[in-house]
Amino acid sequence: MTDDPIFSPFSIKNHRLRNRLGVAPMTRMSSVSDSIPRQDVFDFLVRRAANGAALVYTEAIVTDYESSQGYPGQARLTTQRQIDAWAATVEKIRAQGALAIMQMFHCGRMAWPEVNPAGRSIGPSALAPKQLNPLTQAPYPLPDAMSRFDIPHVIQGFVETAKGAVAAGFDGVEIHGAHGYLINQFLSSYSNRREDDYGGVLANRFRFAREVIRAVRQVVPSDRLLAFRISNWGIADPEVSLFQDAAEWQALIRLLAAEPVDVISVSTYRFSDAAFGTAKTMAQLTREATTLPLMICGQIHDHKSAEQALQHADIALSAKSVLLNPDWVEDVRRGKALPLYSSQEANVAYTTEPLL
Ligand SMILES: Cc1cc2nc3c(=O)[nH]c(=O)nc-3n(C[C@H](O)[C@H](O)[C@H](O)COP(=O)(O)O)c2cc1C
Repeated sequence: MTDDPIFSPFSIKNHRLRNRLGVAPMTRMSSVSDSIPRQDVFDFLVRRAANGAALVYTEAIVTDYESSQGYPGQARLTTQRQIDAWAATVEKIRAQGALAIMQMFHCGRMAWPEVNPAGRSIGPSALAPKQLNPLTQAPYPLPDAMSRFDIPHVIQGFVETAKGAVAAGFDGVEIHGAHGYLINQFLSSYSNRREDDYGGVLANRFRFAREVIRAVRQVVPSDRLLAFRISNWGIADPEVSLFQDAAEWQALIRLLAAEPVDVISVSTYRFSDAAFGTAKTMAQLTREATTLPLMICGQIHDHKSAEQALQHADIALSAKSVLLNPDWVEDVRRGKALPLYSSQEANVAYTTEPLL
């Protein structure tokens, strides 16, 4: 037993987390063939579980073979070989006492046509991000506005990938609705200029997310978790507030919470920042709008920041700190002074050198 709230257990439905610290989803671009990550990338996840994390996310897995992929070397989870490879890792993560959660996404207008068989990108509207693709230094191509044919096809990709995750034994599945990728593009009026019933007012912009959630829930049994990740910022054009104000954010959270999701994961650049010109953080604003379990992420790097973050959330996720420090969970427990790593330092995620 512990008096430290960071190390108190927490339950989401039938799943018990041994503490409040999790490994955030991190793309590693390591799949050279067959859309299966390198073994050392799998081992990295298992090591984080062995070293005390309560839950471990996969990298963002792309949902189809058509136009979903945004970065080279991304993983998929729809073939038997892919499922078998992940199943072996999931078993090891769970044997170490952590939950394993698969995150999946479609990059939409942030896809990279060169690595997609379709050779095109798609999005809610024919509108590209303003900034250059940071990997290629070239402009993002103009996406095709998704047609009535594209929408069910893309939803099916989420469904097939969720089925793969269930077959591989994951404890849960997360729909990536954050960071300016496809679902987030539909949610935000910055990228969604549609004039049909998938665009316009928030309830319409939410329609695509709702269709994805409901279709995925059909194949994710009630004893597995369904999470939804959301943010007010995107990787491209990061300076843009994707939602207008706190009222719009909270209305969106209420729409989300009315769907069959079990947990909401809020991604921020820095968890402690005041949001939308209010004196409250993203976690506080989110908590006011829902009673669902909440995860929070963004520069949670030591005991003090984790404790502070958990005042308005149930689970604290770390990306860079747990990426670069295999002993992070134990170091937090001991209250060690820990560095705040930069994105530059996190680029080590994309090397072929195995990480500790
Ligand atoms: C190497 C790397 C890869 C990432 N890949 C993903 C991803 O696949 N999916 C996702 O939702 N977020 C991804 N992120 C964002 C993190 O999950 C997290 O939200 C962000 O880094 C802020 O947390 P931190 O301050 O603890 O690093 C990535 C971050 C890093 C550093």
